[in-house]
Amino acid sequence: MTISKLPLQFDFSLRRHNTFGIDANAHAYLPVTSLETLQALRFDQDMASLPRLVLGGGSNLVLTQDFPGLVLHMCNRGREIAGADEDAVYVRAAAGENWHELVLWTLKQGLAGLENLSLIPGSVGAAPIQNIGAYGVELQERFHGLTALDMESGEILTLNRDACAFDYRDSVFKHSLRDRAVVLDVTFALPKRWQPDLRYADVAQELAARELLQPSARDISDAVIAIRTRKLPDPAVIGNAGSFFKNPIVTAAQRNVLLAQHPQLVNYLQPNGGYKLAAGWLIDQCGWKGKSLGAAGVYEKQALVLVNRGGASGRDVVRLAQAVQADVMARFGVALEPEPIFI
Ligand code: EPU
Repeated sequence: MTISKLPLQFDFSLRRHNTFGIDANAHAYLPVTSLETLQALRFDQDMASLPRLVLGGGSNLVLTQDFPGLVLHMCNRGREIAGADEDAVYVRAAAGENWHELVLWTLKQGLAGLENLSLIPGSVGAAPIQNIGAYGVELQERFHGLTALDMESGEILTLNRDACAFDYRDSVFKHSLRDRAVVLDVTFALPKRWQPDLRYADVAQELAARELLQPSARDISDAVIAIRTRKLPDPAVIGNAGSFFKNPIVTAAQRNVLLAQHPQLVNYLQPNGGYKLAAGWLIDQCGWKGKSLGAAGVYEKQALVLVNRGGASGRDVVRLAQAVQADVMARFGVALEPEPIFI
C-alpha cells in the first residue's frame, strides 16, 4: 500500500453532509478543492480503484448503509461573469458553490433568470445532474455548458445543453456518464431580454398578494423564498431531501380512467401528450400526510417530502418510501419513482 499525498480522511461520518441527517460513514473522504486534486487521485492506485460517490450539498441522497468507497466532496469555489453577447450574459460558477448563494449573487449583479430557482438546497455541480426545476423553470432553460473531468480517460469534457440530454429531473449524468464524469464548473446563459416567468399559479398569487404587478427578478426570488419556506421543511431543522418522488407521467388513456374515478386528480398535459400527475396529491389521498413509520415520516405540509423525525436510518426511510409506493400503486395503479440517489 502506498502512502497517499491526498488530504484523505478515513471512516468519515457523513451525517453533516447529507440533508436527511442520516448517520453513515464513508470508508474514505476527500475534499476536492481543485482539478489538480482529481487528477492526482487518478494516479493513486489504492484510491482510484474504489467505488466513488461525488457529493455536493448532499441534498438528494439517502444513505442506507456505510459507503465502502471514496466520497469526493466538491469544495471548489469561484463565480464570475464569463462574457456576454446580444442575447445573454454568461455566468460561470464552480461545482462546489452553493446553489442559492449563486442565485442571490446573480441578482445582486443585476442579472435575472435564476430567480424562480431560489432556495433550492444543494450545490452548483449537482444542479445539472438532475436538472433542478421549480416554479415553472428548469435549469436546462438557463444552462449554457459545463466542464467535467472524465475519471476514466482523464479528459476534460466540455458539454453543451444537447450533450447533457436534459429531461425532467434527468440528464446524461444519471446514465452513460454516471460514475464517470465529475462536474467541475457550470456556465449559465442569463437572458438579456428577461421576462418574468409567472406560469406557476403559486408564484403569480404570491406576487398578487404583495401587490407587485410588474415584479422584478428580486421580487420573484423573494416570493419563491416565501412559498418554499411555508411549504418545505428547512433541512437545517428537519432532515429531508426535498421531493422524495418524481411526479409520475402517465398516458392520456390512463389519466382519463383515473380522472373519471377521481375528479379532483391534479394533472398537467405534457408536450409529448402524456400527463404529469402530482405525486404529493396521490400520497395525500392515501392518507400519508403527517404520518410516520418508525423515525421516518411524511411532511405535514407537503406529502411529497419524506422527513427524518429524529435518528432515522436510511432503512427507515426506505421502509416508509416502499409503504407509500405500495399504497399509491394499490389505490391508483401508478408507480412512484424516487428522486434521490440511494447508497
Ligand atoms: N398537493 C396535494 N397534497 C400535498 C402536496 C401537493 O394535494 O401534500 C397538490 C397541490 O395542491 C398541487 C399539486 O399537488 O395542486 C402540486 O404541488 P406543488 O405545487 O407543491 O408542487 P409539487 O409537484 O409537489 C414540484 C417539484 C418541487 C418544486 C415544486 C414547485 C417535483 C418532484 N417536485 O413539486 O421540487 O419545488 O414543484 O415547482 O417535480 C424537489 O425537486 O425537491 C422539489 C421540491
